[in-house]
Amino acid sequence: MEKSGSSFIFLAFFLLQTLTKHEATKVPAIIVFGDSSVDSGNNNHISTVLKSNFPPYGRDFDGGKPTGRFSNGKIITDFISQAFGIKTTIPAYLDPSFNITDFVHGVCFASAGTGYDNATSDIFSVIPLWKQLEYYKEYQTKLRDYLGASKGNATIAKSLYLISLGTNDFLENYFLLPQRSSKFSVEEYQSFLVRVAAEFVRKLYKLGARKMSIGGLPPMGCLPLERTSSVVFGGGGECVEKYNGIAKDFNGKLMGLVEMLEKELGGIRIVLSNPFDVLHDMIDHPSYFGFSNSAKACCGTGRFEMGFMCSRLSPFTCDDANKYVFWDAFHPTQKAHSIMANHIVKTYLSIFL
Ligand SMILES: *[C@@H]1O[C@H](CO)[C@@H](O)[C@H](O)[C@H]1NC(C)=O
Ligand SMILES: *[C@@H]1O[C@H](CO)[C@@H](O)[C@H](O)[C@H]1NC(C)=O
Ligand SMILES: *[C@@H]1O[C@H](CO)[C@@H](O)[C@H](O)[C@H]1NC(C)=O
Repeated sequence: MEKSGSSFIFLAFFLLQTLTKHEATKVPAIIVFGDSSVDSGNNNHISTVLKSNFPPYGRDFDGGKPTGRFSNGKIITDFISQAFGIKTTIPAYLDPSFNITDFVHGVCFASAGTGYDNATSDIFSVIPLWKQLEYYKEYQTKLRDYLGASKGNATIAKSLYLISLGTNDFLENYFLLPQRSSKFSVEEYQSFLVRVAAEFVRKLYKLGARKMSIGGLPPMGCLPLERTSSVVFGGGGECVEKYNGIAKDFNGKLMGLVEMLEKELGGIRIVLSNPFDVLHDMIDHPSYFGFSNSAKACCGTGRFEMGFMCSRLSPFTCDDANKYVFWDAFHPTQKAHSIMANHIVKTYLSIFL
């Protein structure tokens, strides 16, 4: 009797210890910085042409609501938040229908069209990365006011920070405009962007962040818009291998950065979440994932429409977006986002679960 009593107490103590340990390491909120790959609607509230808060965007979102996500429904960060047992969507910081009672579980500062390079965000007058960090500082103040300084600081340290951008620096800036390409080789430009990423992580770390993920670039030469442009320049509509190669190189450099920062910044846990291979698999073997088309997008002709070009008036928009890897000519469908999120949580973010 006495023996089983003490082992019961021992077991209870053990359970309590494991539970509190889990509570202590659990991620209370997901904080997002980046571009349209993760913007949940900030561009709705700024003056830019780069918006998606109208149909058919959001057609498959809860209630069929166009939210400003560049998707027919949810995006990767929503699925990641759900996988962490937090909320099923991450609200945009600039959306006045949300406040700190929502943001305490997760908040998005991302802005479609932005890049690591200030010159990239200038092209579409969207929110530059440095400005996203200013909004984050404002958020920290609100969070401490709301939770109290000590609990607020603990939340800041335990939250998971997802950073996802870079595609626009190459496709909307370097390869379209002369300002950067006349000054830098591709190699030099990549190094410049990596330095900006490094400074951004250091600043976040100084502000108390400890768990971070830098997103790798997708196979950007396979975005339908790039395939279409290749036709204009005499290609046959295949993936632009030059751009895919640059994305791979850049991801390699980001991996080096992650390894360096992990040594440099005590107590940080940082990973590279690389979507390249899983998205390339979907593009190469669509039927394996239940898709029937990965070369053209669902919206419009599927060859060039995105943003205001992808509207209710676009003819030919597909009936079932679940059959397509790409929703518009630059962005994956909700289903592709969900597959990428599963892969990324399992492969890279599981250390934070
Ligand atoms: C947040 O919004 C909710 C509902 O919209 C409201 O009831 C609440 O007072 C707001 N809280 C703060 C701290 O502004
Ligand atoms: C980007 O602009 C901000 C604000 O003007 C500035 O502080 C920062 O140094 C710039 N970044 C680079 C890499 O030039
Ligand atoms: C919370 O963090 C801020 C900034 O690092 C610091 O100034 C403040 O003393 C901290 N407060 C508590 C109660 O830990």
